[in-house]
Amino acid sequence: MSTSKPLVRAEKVDKWFGRHQVLKGVSLTVEKGEVVSIIGPSGSGKSTFLRCVNQLETYQEGRLYVGDQLIGYEEQNGRLVALNNRQIVAQRRHIGMVFQQFNLFWHMTVLENIVEAPIMVLGQSREQATAKAMELLARVGLAEKAHAYPMKLSGGQQQRAAIARALAMNPELMLFDEPTSALDPETTGEVLAVIGELAKTGMTMIIVTHEMGFARQVSDRIVLMEDGMIQHEGPPEAFFGEGQSPRLKAFLSTIH
Ligand SMILES: Nc1ncnc2c1ncn2[C@@H]1O[C@H](COP(=O)(O)OP(=O)(O)OP(=O)(O)O)[C@@H](O)[C@H]1O
Ligand SMILES: [Mg+2]
Repeated sequence: MSTSKPLVRAEKVDKWFGRHQVLKGVSLTVEKGEVVSIIGPSGSGKSTFLRCVNQLETYQEGRLYVGDQLIGYEEQNGRLVALNNRQIVAQRRHIGMVFQQFNLFWHMTVLENIVEAPIMVLGQSREQATAKAMELLARVGLAEKAHAYPMKLSGGQQQRAAIARALAMNPELMLFDEPTSALDPETTGEVLAVIGELAKTGMTMIIVTHEMGFARQVSDRIVLMEDGMIQHEGPPEAFFGEGQSPRLKAFLSTIH
């Protein structure tokens, strides 16, 4: 049995938007090197959970750890006290996130998009950041697009550039929020292939996806979220094999 601590540990995380509770006691652990996919109906809280991990949202109750860090808070006598901005930036530095809508900067070339944060946040030299960016672009099959502007790229190419940009920060954890749902079927495959390759390198990843075939293939574990709660979790074989829970069957039948 592994004695190393999980990289991500959520314990009874609660999140409200106003009076609407969207995460209801979410507990989940992700081991180092593990790939966990989150599936579930629209509005079930999948994005909100990822956004809490990356501090684009704050949770109100429970505990959420990445490595040794309690995300967003300091615990003082059992109470949660919010971190300041500098502390939050430091915690987010090693978490990469890839969004449905790519979120590249339009006024910068692909290369400029990728080297921006390593230079500004990690303090790398331009030479060092550029060398690493070119290596990453080659890895995602975009070496020849380094000097192109995002507007000139296909959706799949933009998303691969966004993945390279996230990797340039040397993340210890990668979060993907429906990375292919804005893409057409032809380019979906090329982005999934890049994510699949990344999984093989031992990167720890949490992937929100509606691509069931992909989730089955790439994940060590799959989690079904419904109404702000984890309803079911297990390895893909258990998830898609015999003996599915009625809830899971019902959800899967809505997307096939
Ligand atoms: N900024 C916000 N303010 C208020 N309510 C929000 C906000 N963001 C999300 N919600 C609500 O929180 C709930 C969970 O939303 P979330 O985006 O996490 O769902 P999801 O599982 O990612 O859905 P989808 O599959 O459609 O992306 C929904 O009811 C949504 O309307
Ligand atoms: Mg979502």
